[in-house]
Amino acid sequence: MKIENLEKNTYDEMVYKSNPFSYSSPLTLEACGTLFGLEPASSTKNSRILELGCSFGGNIITQALYYPDNYYVGVDLTEEQINTGKKMIEKMGLKNIELHQKDIMEIDESFGKFDYIITHGVFSWIPDAVKDKMISICDTNLNENGLAYISYNTLPGWKEGQKIRDMMLYVNKYFKDESLQTKTERGKVFLEIMIEQMKLYTDISEKKKEFIALMEKVLKMQNYYVGHEYLEAINDPMYFSEFAEMLEKKGLIHVSDINLRLSFASIYKKETKDRIEQLSGGNHIIKEQCIDFILDTQFRKSLICKKSQAEKLNFTESINNEIFDKFYYIPEYSEQEINNFPEVSELTKKLLEERNSFQVSVVKDFYKEKGLSDEEIEEKLKKFRAFLLVNMIDGKVSYYCSNFEKVKFEENKVYVPEKFIKYLDAIVDESNTFIGASNYRNQLINGLNAIDVIVIKALKEPTTKKNLLEALKDVPIYRHTDEGSFEVPAEEYLEEALKKFENLNYFVKK
Ligand SMILES: C[S@@+](CC[C@H](N)C(=O)[O-])C[C@H]1O[C@@H](n2cnc3c(N)ncnc32)[C@H](O)[C@@H]1O
Repeated sequence: MKIENLEKNTYDEMVYKSNPFSYSSPLTLEACGTLFGLEPASSTKNSRILELGCSFGGNIITQALYYPDNYYVGVDLTEEQINTGKKMIEKMGLKNIELHQKDIMEIDESFGKFDYIITHGVFSWIPDAVKDKMISICDTNLNENGLAYISYNTLPGWKEGQKIRDMMLYVNKYFKDESLQTKTERGKVFLEIMIEQMKLYTDISEKKKEFIALMEKVLKMQNYYVGHEYLEAINDPMYFSEFAEMLEKKGLIHVSDINLRLSFASIYKKETKDRIEQLSGGNHIIKEQCIDFILDTQFRKSLICKKSQAEKLNFTESINNEIFDKFYYIPEYSEQEINNFPEVSELTKKLLEERNSFQVSVVKDFYKEKGLSDEEIEEKLKKFRAFLLVNMIDGKVSYYCSNFEKVKFEENKVYVPEKFIKYLDAIVDESNTFIGASNYRNQLINGLNAIDVIVIKALKEPTTKKNLLEALKDVPIYRHTDEGSFEVPAEEYLEEALKKFENLNYFVKK
């Protein structure tokens, strides 16, 4: 289907909410690169980070807050987004981040070198010349041990999405001058009608079951997202192998997907693993392309390094013990999900209950206390590392190169530094509908509100719960649920707020 070029800058017209993404954060990239044998710069200290197509800066602003020794640079073409982002940064008082209204095409060596270059949700929506330039930047502006991240819509999985896009573009074919908002609404109405009609026929609705489910999912998505995803002039999904070839031509190597399921064949059934091994003959690009065909992959989040790092890379899927032992892990699994490893389930259950980060050394401490011999502990270590790898691949255990210690609230002993107070004040401001809040892992945090701002302001010095309640004395606190709104006692809310701040690592001991 021929796509008319949209002349207006559609990001000025229908702004794109700027959320943080944990999977594109340097913390994640550093850990993933380390897993594959690379030695990237620390993601928490003295690193320079560049984001291309940063929108309002929502993916880097909170990181600049948590990691003051790093320096963050965001670039985006859209003036309105950059200006709003800059105002937020000023309001928060952050000095280690700058946003530039700039075309990616204008970036050259003089823009400086970076340890991490990130670009999320941009590559598939830009012309080929800009795609090429983006990849060149990942070479020219990346330090030798640097890591880049590019995400993109992937084939064959995105073929279904292309059908939805074709429908939406078709129904808007004769309304070129209308706003993207109106076109999105019209597109959604058309999708709804098509779904209704498909459902009238049992054979069609049976055959198209998954496609209808996808269409229904699109209908539920917010308009800003649907408009840019399905109605932009360019949305150009590609096969992973084509992407890897583009990298190769520019002297870069595809290391892995951040979703390790797309890069590790060993997680699949033996038959699948053996077949993939036969087909790929040890070539990791062919291996991953086969995985994409099997899984019908729709989206990739590629980790990239320079060719000079080739010798360090380990694509064997067996990880050295030293690498396992370096990481700090955070459990993301549920109790049901640990049943496949009964030999270490007592320990994994305990770790789940504690919800703290841990290192492999917990195994030794745990089983020593239980009176196991050194040999038995070695056996447990093996089982535990196997448990970790499977769960890291499945996303059920997060892994990082740095530790994040939580400080609990203690009366008269802890306080919240001013930078977090300013941040919270700015991010929950009613005028901010564009930037999502996040935690130290760059995970989106919803539910921060004006009451939290009152509490946090009262925490600028160590204090007591009694004093904090005093700050909430005349404040009516309501909780809104599907059943209606009801008032919450200040004591109850205070406990929740303190827990929130603890989980956000806001407390510091005096
Ligand atoms: C789909 S949005 C993604 C924004 C953000 N990275 C995210 O995932 O939420 C794409 C962004 O790329 C920016 N962009 C597109 N072409 C660009 C170019 N040539 N130079 C700089 N930014 C560009 C747009 O302005 C827009 O903010």
